[in-house]
Amino acid sequence: MSETLDDVDDDARLPRRIDWGLWRRLLVHVRPHARVVLGLVVCGVILAVVDLGFPLLTRAVIDAITVDAPDLAAVRWVAWAWGAAVVVFGALIWALIVLAGRLASSVSHDLRRAGFARLQELSFSYFDRRPVGWLVSRLTSDCDRIANLLPWFSLDLVWGPSLAIGIAIAMLAIDVPLALAVLLIVPALVLVSVLFQRRMLQSSRLLRRANSRITASIGEAVMGVRTTKSFAREDDALGEFSVLVAESRAHALRNAIQGAVFLPIVSTIGAVGVGLAMWQGGARTDGELSLGTLVAFMQFAALFHQPVEDVARRLADLQGAQAAAERVQGLLDTAPEIGDSPAVQAAIARATAEGASTPDGGRRDIAELEFRDVWFAYGDGPWVLRGVDIHAARGQTIALVGETGGGKTTVVSLLARFYEPTRGQILLDGIEQRERSLLWLQSSIGVVLQTPHLFSGTILENIRYGRDGATDDEVVAAATLACADAFITRLPEGYATAVGEGGARLSTGQRQLVALARAILADPQILILDEATSSVDTETEALIQTGIARVLAGRIAFVVAHRLSTIRAASRILVVDAGRILEAGTHDELLRKGGHYARLYRRNFATGVA
Ligand SMILES: Nc1ncnc2c1ncn2[C@@H]1O[C@H](COP(=O)(O)OP(=O)(O)OP(=O)(O)O)[C@@H](O)[C@H]1O
Ligand SMILES: [Mg+2]
Repeated sequence: MSETLDDVDDDARLPRRIDWGLWRRLLVHVRPHARVVLGLVVCGVILAVVDLGFPLLTRAVIDAITVDAPDLAAVRWVAWAWGAAVVVFGALIWALIVLAGRLASSVSHDLRRAGFARLQELSFSYFDRRPVGWLVSRLTSDCDRIANLLPWFSLDLVWGPSLAIGIAIAMLAIDVPLALAVLLIVPALVLVSVLFQRRMLQSSRLLRRANSRITASIGEAVMGVRTTKSFAREDDALGEFSVLVAESRAHALRNAIQGAVFLPIVSTIGAVGVGLAMWQGGARTDGELSLGTLVAFMQFAALFHQPVEDVARRLADLQGAQAAAERVQGLLDTAPEIGDSPAVQAAIARATAEGASTPDGGRRDIAELEFRDVWFAYGDGPWVLRGVDIHAARGQTIALVGETGGGKTTVVSLLARFYEPTRGQILLDGIEQRERSLLWLQSSIGVVLQTPHLFSGTILENIRYGRDGATDDEVVAAATLACADAFITRLPEGYATAVGEGGARLSTGQRQLVALARAILADPQILILDEATSSVDTETEALIQTGIARVLAGRIAFVVAHRLSTIRAASRILVVDAGRILEAGTHDELLRKGGHYARLYRRNFATGVA
């Protein structure tokens, strides 16, 4: 659960300033919807004008009736104008909600698609550093947050200043001294709004952080409930939870109090403005200043806090969403660490221009591969492989055995170019791996992992994933070879059985068989089986061995296994330990040698694992 907490802590950090550069870059995603934004901006300006109109109409009607001969025609005119203003106001609000909603959903959609596309391109090393939960929230809550902010931000930043400036201009145009008196409240309004928005932002962040901790704690408790119960630790769990709940309550209370204090203060400042207008203007109403003007000024003074408060709130929102914006932009900015080199890209472009499908000339058969003094470390970590040399030719099966953590999976991950060697080279038919295109490599290599991933869908679809366009017969043939056909046909729905999310409705062994069938269907030049049959029963495994032996003819295979029975048939066995290859040879050779392999074999044989 630490992933969630780190994430939350990141969110609770309040940036000092708004990073305008960052937001400007995110605005790129708004640009395709420029028309909607323009609509919002125009609506914002019209809305400000309508808001401004009501006090002016009030003024007109009061002035029309507080003279010796009331001007009824003018009153009628004002009534019509008022009605029109109300209709326009309603229409504007409707238009704004529609436009803002459309903009938010389009931007959210675009951001997610861009983020998703980037995730598909990124290398394994990126996912090593980022927990799945973290990535999911980037594409869900962060994108939503940014997308929902942008429309209201662009609207309020137009409406607020337009209205504030409009009020100031209208007041100054009507009566300068009175206008200046009312404008005295502006600095106070700005100060209070900015201060309070900052405070409220901070407390709402702390509240959100406390709530995420509660969510994480519930998740942890549910997942660990068997462990908690079996060690009789229910009281501890409850105690920790109570502390979290109390913390959340305290933040919620503070946030509510701040909100409750803020509104009265702002209204009071508005009232002071109204008072200033009455005080300064009241004395002049006998003749010099009309009653309508005075009332209009009082209304203006009461109106002023709205735009100031809104702009302050939007700026605070922006500051609050900055962490989310940084994370999303960070994801979009990440370049894949492994990709086609410029030379390879140029070769692909040339090949495409010449009409060939790949720069590798469509030649897929690989006769030999070589690891030449390969050193590797994950990120800044310690050496995991230290000078590995391997040579394999077509038709050979190389078995990797050794203690857990020795580096077997790492060797095959490098071969599949999930990672690149830190030092040394991997050569395919004498050409360095990096000088081939990724597409070529990926279509030449098939990988079956210990816990293979299936996509939700039917078994048929999952096997066909290995080769698009394979016929049903080909799928069944591959499944038969993988010994998967027997269990599949026993299922009530056979090949049409839905496997559930991630294949959850199949046992681990069944999933391995489906994944194996998928790899067989892909017909790769190099086949990698990393403990691919570890959860299959011994009898099925023996069957698979015969099937695989047939499949492996004419290819290069790398098989990782703890079960020595699986690898006895290999052309060559490599004993991998602490990142080095200690021994290499056939089963019989290594047994005769009486070294590591012999010990490993005897130990497993003695305990009956093999
Ligand atoms: N993604 C990773 N990031 C950092 N270190 C890793 C990563 N994967 C493996 N390691 C480290 O590299 C070393 C070799 O791991 P590897 O998975 O290659 O061993 P293995 O021989 O396949 O073990 P096992 O038999 O248990 O599958 C281990 O010490 C492991 O901690
Ligand atoms: Mg492994």
